[in-house]
Amino acid sequence: MTTALTVRSATKIFGAQVALDDVSIDVEPGEVRALVGQNGCGKSTLIKILAGFHIPEPGTAASIAGRDLDFGDPVASEAVGLRFVHQDLGLVANLDAVDNLALGQGYITNPTKTIRWRKERAAAREALAALGYDINVRVPVATLQMSERTAVAIARAMSDRGSPVTMLILDEPTANLPNAEAQRLYQLVRRVADSGVAVLFVSHHFDEVFEMADSVTVLRDGKHIVTRPVEGLTEDELIELVVGRKLEEHNKDSADAREHDEEVLVAKEIAGASVLGMDLTLHRGEVVGVAGITGSGRESVAGLIFGGMERGGVITVNGQELPENRPDISVDRGVALVPAERHANASLIDQTLRENITLVDPGRHMTMGILRRRPERADVRIWLDKLTVKPGGQTEYTMAQLSGGNQQKVIVARWLRQEPKVLILDEPTQGVDVGAKADIHRMVDEAAAQGTSVLVCSTDHEELVRVCDRVVIMRRGRVAEVLRGGEITVDNITAATIGRDAHDSTEPAA
Ligand SMILES: Nc1ncnc2c1ncn2[C@@H]1O[C@H](COP(=O)(O)OP(=O)(O)OP(=O)(O)O)[C@@H](O)[C@H]1O
Ligand SMILES: [Mg+2]
Repeated sequence: MTTALTVRSATKIFGAQVALDDVSIDVEPGEVRALVGQNGCGKSTLIKILAGFHIPEPGTAASIAGRDLDFGDPVASEAVGLRFVHQDLGLVANLDAVDNLALGQGYITNPTKTIRWRKERAAAREALAALGYDINVRVPVATLQMSERTAVAIARAMSDRGSPVTMLILDEPTANLPNAEAQRLYQLVRRVADSGVAVLFVSHHFDEVFEMADSVTVLRDGKHIVTRPVEGLTEDELIELVVGRKLEEHNKDSADAREHDEEVLVAKEIAGASVLGMDLTLHRGEVVGVAGITGSGRESVAGLIFGGMERGGVITVNGQELPENRPDISVDRGVALVPAERHANASLIDQTLRENITLVDPGRHMTMGILRRRPERADVRIWLDKLTVKPGGQTEYTMAQLSGGNQQKVIVARWLRQEPKVLILDEPTQGVDVGAKADIHRMVDEAAAQGTSVLVCSTDHEELVRVCDRVVIMRRGRVAEVLRGGEITVDNITAATIGRDAHDSTEPAA
């Protein structure tokens, strides 16, 4: 049996930054390998080298099923049998599954070049059925569930492009998937591996490493730390391998003892997008979570309250109304939003970290109309340190020079620095490593202790358990349940989001 993927001495240097330092790995056919490590440790860099996007330093070599890989050429990567699913999936939202699949492989045509739609649809259905999915291939993929969209992206990656598939590579495949849907992805990946294809996936979620992977490779600061079977490994051991030290245990008692009686944000009958009607009150210093499967309304709550979209209902902050569609007024009244999908919604990719952080209040370091750069830089540096943005202290780096997780930390810093009255976080730790996640959670505690009201919309149920005083569960566009204090457990949240009885669940039986 030839090894599916062999990488030898992979090294990549960006300016003064050694992103990848002499990394060698082997993956066998049918093996599912997790690639883990802190933000900026080099995971995406390794994948981008294999995809032909980055050219590594001389001395780096890679082969796929025994064939040498030519670097810097995406077509060559595909020709040797590598297939990629990137984090944003790369689907065209308003096209259906048939069209999205054809984007990968071209349409099936007659000799006269007319498209054979019936065949095309059957082929799309068949490709998805092979992955265990029976979905409507004629509706825009935007209307499908996240896990179904992921299946379309994987089906497209696996489709025939004139060379057999040797290896499927996924960069954070479940970053946007609620728990129940992630379970379906695990089965899907298993099917792909059972057909003899090697799988390499990047993840910050260790539960999925344990569920999905046969083996795990840990990178730290660009270096290979260990590759080992998942069997016999505990989550604590894995965390220690990734972070390089033990994480401090969090003690929740202090948070539970706090009293919350002063109303800050009051929302009545808000409706819009997937939310049909919702009342919500946030008290001073309180952390409230919003949970729900995709489509339940959870994914729209943050945007509706912040005011970036059309909505009905009335929202007040300290008695003053927040009009719909006026995020500028929300900011003036002390409301801040860290949106999900940070790339599309929040970061100015070609501007510096300093500009990205001070964007909301460029005047803070002005004296008589002159911008004081030095105090501004010092201020920004403090925030970069607080959130351990790597590489450290680089206020003049552009966002494009940071890894995905570090970009997220910069956006969180931007809004925490505002000391808002109401802080709305939508998937605040998506793509963020375990260490940084603990830092962000600690800063949520601190903000709340200083009186900020925090709303956390999240598909990460452990995160909700960790930070929230109260968790609101959305089902079918409405608040279905509220959990408080000791009721807030991962199992309770998961059970409540999918509905207590089977009929209420929108998940098809797996
Ligand atoms: N285009 C670039 N220019 C300069 N530096 C870069 C570039 N891309 C990545 N880097 C640096 O290389 C290092 C590795 O980044 P990489 O994107 O591989 O991290 P990662 O492990 O994928 O992290 P994350 O979990 O945050 O996605 C980081 O220090 C990053 O700042
Ligand atoms: Mg990355």
